[in-house]
Amino acid sequence: MVPVPVLSGTSVFYTADSDADGQDVMAGTNTGGDGTAAHSVADLIARCTRALERSAVCFGHGTDNARDEAAALVFHVLGLDHGDALRAYGQPVSAAGQRQVAGMLEARISTRQPLPYLTGEAWFAGLPFHVDGRVLVPRSPFAELIASRFVPWLDPDGVHRILEIGTGSGCMAVACALAFPESSVVATDISPAALEVARRNVARHKVADRVQLVEADLYAGLDGVFDLIISNPPYVSPVEVASLPDEYRHEPELALLSEEDGMATPARILQHATQFLTADGWLALEVGGGAALLEARFATLPFIWPEFENGGDGIALISAVDLRASECPATP
Ligand SMILES: C[S@@+](CC[C@H](N)C(=O)[O-])C[C@H]1O[C@@H](n2cnc3c(N)ncnc32)[C@H](O)[C@@H]1O
Repeated sequence: MVPVPVLSGTSVFYTADSDADGQDVMAGTNTGGDGTAAHSVADLIARCTRALERSAVCFGHGTDNARDEAAALVFHVLGLDHGDALRAYGQPVSAAGQRQVAGMLEARISTRQPLPYLTGEAWFAGLPFHVDGRVLVPRSPFAELIASRFVPWLDPDGVHRILEIGTGSGCMAVACALAFPESSVVATDISPAALEVARRNVARHKVADRVQLVEADLYAGLDGVFDLIISNPPYVSPVEVASLPDEYRHEPELALLSEEDGMATPARILQHATQFLTADGWLALEVGGGAALLEARFATLPFIWPEFENGGDGIALISAVDLRASECPATP
């Protein structure tokens, strides 16, 4: 390992020869600018990576490893452009910049908040969204399906009305509105607090004329039919919720918890979908690791499980035709 000089002005960065148990954090007495500090963005990212690796933090809210999370943190704090990353890596960082990075790193490690709650921003389908503790941090593989406009399963030209159930930050509704510029989107959530965040993101992306946000329990009060229904509903069972890492405890329980084996809410969405789908409409329903449970519960339904290039799984596709062909979709 290449020894990395101690960074001034922080107590959370580690030297290369720190104790294995991570206790040998650098003394927090320097204030920066004393000539021993790291100078480049790349140095800073390396040091943040090491600090994250030696901490107890859990990844999974936009990144899945320490290096990517360190880069996201440093780039955000310093206002750097990810599109110009190679040039940015060699840039010097001022002592003040280093202290700001150290402060956010310290907060990430000590509070265990997902990084997007600290930065106030998460990326989904290549778009930035405001996020805070009122909404789930966007991370669904739906981003890939939306970007590909659900081809080859749907004819995008036939998609005019889209329904999203459980919109949270509004990321999926907004991404759909932009991917299907001729469409209108209805997005429901049972949480008024989440809908406030969604409203902000809908305005930010200038799609308020085509995205209608509705406070509703799943489909309650909705009219008409839709060419596409999408949902990333809560699907984590009470037992699993109890054992989630600390980061997930900062997210609204309403966004994660679903009764029974986690399939109670997805099952309700599935059971009522035909009523709200056009004749050749489709339902896309995320259940994550619950794919086998959903298959068992709805054994007669021919679900399609797309594979994703960017990781993730567990989104079931089912057509209205197949839903209607199944006389008794749910096994009690
Ligand atoms: C897993 S989050 C998904 C948020 C967003 N679509 C995303 O992918 O980032 C589930 C959302 O469903 C909402 N929700 C939970 N139960 C609901 C219900 N019965 N009806 C409508 N929305 C519900 C939660 O408030 C939460 O915002």
